[in-house]
Amino acid sequence: MKTRTAAANEDTIAEAAGLLRAGELVAFPTETVYGLGANALNAAAVQKIYEAKGRPSNNPTIVHVSTVEMARKLVTHWPESAAKLAASFWPGPLTLILPRNKLIPGIVTAGGATVGIRVPAHPVALTLIRVADVPIAAPSANKSGEVSPTRAEHVAQSLAGRVSLILDGGPTDVGIESTVLDLSDGQPGILRPGAITSQQIEAALGVPVEERASTLQSSPDPQRSPGQLERHYAPRAQLLLVSVDEAEATIANLLAKGKPVGWMSFNSTVAAGSAKVIRMPTDPPSYGKVLYDTLHKLDTASVDVIVAELPPQTAEWTAIHDRLRRASAKKI
Ligand code: TXA
Ligand code: MG
Repeated sequence: MKTRTAAANEDTIAEAAGLLRAGELVAFPTETVYGLGANALNAAAVQKIYEAKGRPSNNPTIVHVSTVEMARKLVTHWPESAAKLAASFWPGPLTLILPRNKLIPGIVTAGGATVGIRVPAHPVALTLIRVADVPIAAPSANKSGEVSPTRAEHVAQSLAGRVSLILDGGPTDVGIESTVLDLSDGQPGILRPGAITSQQIEAALGVPVEERASTLQSSPDPQRSPGQLERHYAPRAQLLLVSVDEAEATIANLLAKGKPVGWMSFNSTVAAGSAKVIRMPTDPPSYGKVLYDTLHKLDTASVDVIVAELPPQTAEWTAIHDRLRRASAKKI
């Protein structure tokens, strides 16, 4: 299969919608990362996502819809909490886990009784869903375990020959994947932190929200959130997380061993020798926007080791810490 990248416009979106309706895959931009989409109501089409990504079948896929009404058609129960959160955060980077109904084939949910749904806040994604007139199952558009794509070029590098059309909508805005919130049992729980924080969700719901993501890392529970595995979102280079005090010695040591090093820093005063220095933004939304792009760039620059300064240990950095930790998990 030949992979073509086309600027997203009325014609190419109509073409992509036709491919989706014909049971084919299309890569498209969302505000978080690029998605690899298939008609969520067509099991054979969704199967192609798993083949193209090399994704384990126990990892469920998020379903993208354009309206609350469309979301409600896919679930057996639409709790008050879902109504409140949809009103506050959709379109946007929040995925709600709800009990699925029979319209959603089991392959989308890895056989589970729940489905993850969100309304993406990207005009190309929304138009594509509307024109195709079907919900779109879409994980991130990269091979399983690799860093998620925030540009059409990243998709082409990872999935060349595995998807026929990539809609190019430019670099994505949020840059890290959506917050995944489980609403399928009594207590709301965050399965994956993202740009929408637990504080924002608590403020909208008026009840406490459990942080379930970290407990899932040591023992991933397939029934809960199978995607929460160690070493996810990982670059080819090894990623080392250091405090600013450790940075100089760590970098010097690696350079002395002859290793090409990348240094992702907040602080320009660290002496980094011949390391390739990338100055990272100091606020979480701007950092999130460039994080994966920076990892992709350093991989392209063929560094062996990426040294990254740990961001502050405050709540607003939770999602960034999560992605950095996963990207730095030991290679297996
Ligand atoms: O921002 C995003 O969420 C992007 C864009 C394309 O929308 N999508 C994305 O999909 O990151 P993916 O497949 O790479 O991550 C989806 C994760 C799964 O790994 C899993 O942890 C969780 O969402 N998930 C999906 N459906 C679930 C379900 N029914 N129960 C529990 N977790 C679920
Ligand atoms: Mg992914």
